[in-house]
Order: sequence, then structure tokens, then C-alpha cells
Amino acid sequence: MTRRSTNTAEAAVERQVTIALADDRASAMVADVREGLSRRQKELPPKYFYDERGSELFEKITRLPEYYLTRAERALLTSSAREIVEAFRPRTLVELGAGSAAKTRILLDAMRDAGCGEEYVPVDVSEDFLASTARRLRAEYPNLRVTPAVADIGSSLGLPERLPGPVLFAFLGSTIGNFDAPSARALLGRVRQVMRPFDRLLLGADLRKKRHVVEAAYNDARGVTAAFNRNMLRVLNRELGADFNVGSFRHRAFYSPERHRIEMHLVSSREQVVHIPGVGDVRLASGETIRTEISCKYDRPSVRRLLRAARLRLQDWIADDGRFALAIASPRL
Ligand code: SAH
Ligand code: AVI
Repeated sequence: MTRRSTNTAEAAVERQVTIALADDRASAMVADVREGLSRRQKELPPKYFYDERGSELFEKITRLPEYYLTRAERALLTSSAREIVEAFRPRTLVELGAGSAAKTRILLDAMRDAGCGEEYVPVDVSEDFLASTARRLRAEYPNLRVTPAVADIGSSLGLPERLPGPVLFAFLGSTIGNFDAPSARALLGRVRQVMRPFDRLLLGADLRKKRHVVEAAYNDARGVTAAFNRNMLRVLNRELGADFNVGSFRHRAFYSPERHRIEMHLVSSREQVVHIPGVGDVRLASGETIRTEISCKYDRPSVRRLLRAARLRLQDWIADDGRFALAIASPRL
């Protein structure tokens, strides 16, 4: 076989694999959407916010004056990264829901300064965004092996087989809060399952606080969060050929003090029927809502309980004046 025909054959196989993966993604999405929209309280999973546009809108959210979470977590990382890293000198950093890895650089710098960082594994469901994050990090950290993994961490972590230990697993941004209690326990349980005795988990948690402060963070004056919320409908229109009229849905976010969580909804502004290929016709009454996200807020006891349920021990708690906390956890034997 000539070199040229080998390349052609390889390209054809690669194309088929790509098509098969896209088919798998589409059928998983159809199943999720069918299941979620058949509930009494209609729901869609928040992982579908994050196409390229959704990931960029999230980046904008992190810079909004009302969205204190990212700034608060960055301040905690800046003041404690060195101590965290020097305590157990991780050779690998695995980051769940890495996104743009903007704050991760604080940990990577600390690992480089301590002379221990060898590999970085960003895990994310947003494939294109992950690829560009990996490209940028390779350029910024030429001595670091960057091994991106595309995975839905709600079902599996998708990690490479052997990673140099100790491993620091980071789950930042309070993304854990976007999972309900059973899913959060299961997710942390999956992390625990691959942890060895000297590995650690660094978990970012948004703290319970005054209602108006949390609600403002999810109802920003510029409407970026509203655009982020509605972006999910654009994703479904593009990926599944649905015909959501994006303009006929309003953004709503409110804090439930009993459940300690923000709920984000899309409110149908009129009675309407949406056609979703593979799912069918979905009827929405005027004022009916689709819940697109929950964002749970924590305190130290609730984080400890969550970790304990996943066979993890809360080792350290680094918090500011009540906005955000970093929990460091080790495996329970
Ligand atoms: N860690 C970053 C980004 C948080 S945004 C920060 O702290 O700023 C949430 C990130 O998690 C997005 O990049 C999104 O694509 C990813 N994500 C959301 N649900 C996911 C899932 N089920 N599996 C994998 N990644 C997910
Ligand atoms: C990614 N996640 C932690 C964000 C949050 O605050 O729950 C997503 C978000 N939703 C609205 N604004 C930001």
C-alpha cells in the first residue's frame, strides 16, 4: 500500500469513528431529553449548556460583578495553592469539569515551583472547548504532559489507565453543586474508587449565604446568565433539529432556602408545542417551566457528610469570610 492510500484509509476510518461518536452523543441526548421532558417538572441536564458558545458565555459569567464565586475561589487558591501542593507533592493533576482551566494555572504554577508537576488531565464534556484549553496549556507549560479526556463525569471519569502518583483530583467552581445529592455522592464515589492512599481531592464549594447575594449572582443585570440559560435550547435545535422558539422562553433563577440551592428555569411565555425529532411533540402551557440547573450551596457539615458518603475524609477546610470554601479530602480506608 502506498503512503497516500494508507492516509486515505486512515482518514476514512477516523471519519467513521467520528460519525459513530456523534451518533452515540445524539442518541444519548435524545434519551436524556425524552426522559427529562416527560417529568411533571420538566427538566433538561445542565451539561447541555456547554457547546462552544455556552462555554464562552460561562467564561463571561465568571467576570460579572454579581458572580462572586470565581473571584472568591481564585483568592483562596492564590493564598493556599503552595501549601496544598507542598503537603503531598502531586505529580499529576486531574481536573473534573476543567472548562478554560483559568484558575487551574494557580495549581499548575505551584506544582511547577515545587518541582513535582508532570501531567495534567483536564476532563470535560465540552469537546471543542477542552481541545483549545489543552492546546493553550501545552504552549504555556512546555514541560507538562497534557492529556485531555472527554467524558460525562455524571457516568464515568474517562481517565487514562496509569497516572504518575500522587494525584491531585480537583473539582473546582462548585460544579459539584450542579449534581443532586445521589448523583454527587455517586460522582465522588467514582473519584474515590480510583484514588490511592496518598492521593487527594480538592473540592470547591459555594457556601450558604444571604438569599439576595446568591440570587443576584444568577440574575445578572446584563442578562449574560439569561443568554447562557437559553443557549441550551439553541444546542437542542442544532444537535437534534428541534424547533424551540428561543425568544419565547424567559430566564428565571431563584434560591430555595429549604433546599439550599439555586434553581434555574426557562419559563414558556405562551402555550406552545415544540417538535423534537426522536422525542416527539412537547406541549408547554403558558408559564410552565423547564428546570435547566440546580446549584447547591454548602456549609462545612454538609460537605463533610457528602464526602463521608463517598468514603472520603474531610482533611482540611480553607474558607474565606463565608462566601466560598476549598475542601481537601483523603480516601477513607
Ligand atoms: N472548572 C471551571 C469551569 C466550571 S463550568 C471553573 O471553575 O470555572 C463547568 C464545566 O464543567 C464546564 O466546562 C462544563 O463543560 C463541564 N461539565 C458540566 N457538566 C459536565 C459533565 N456532566 N461531565 C463533564 N464535564 C461537565
Ligand atoms: C458551573 N456551575 C458551577 C455554575 C453555577 O454557578 O452553578 C454554572 C452557572 N449557572 C449559572 N451561572 C453559572
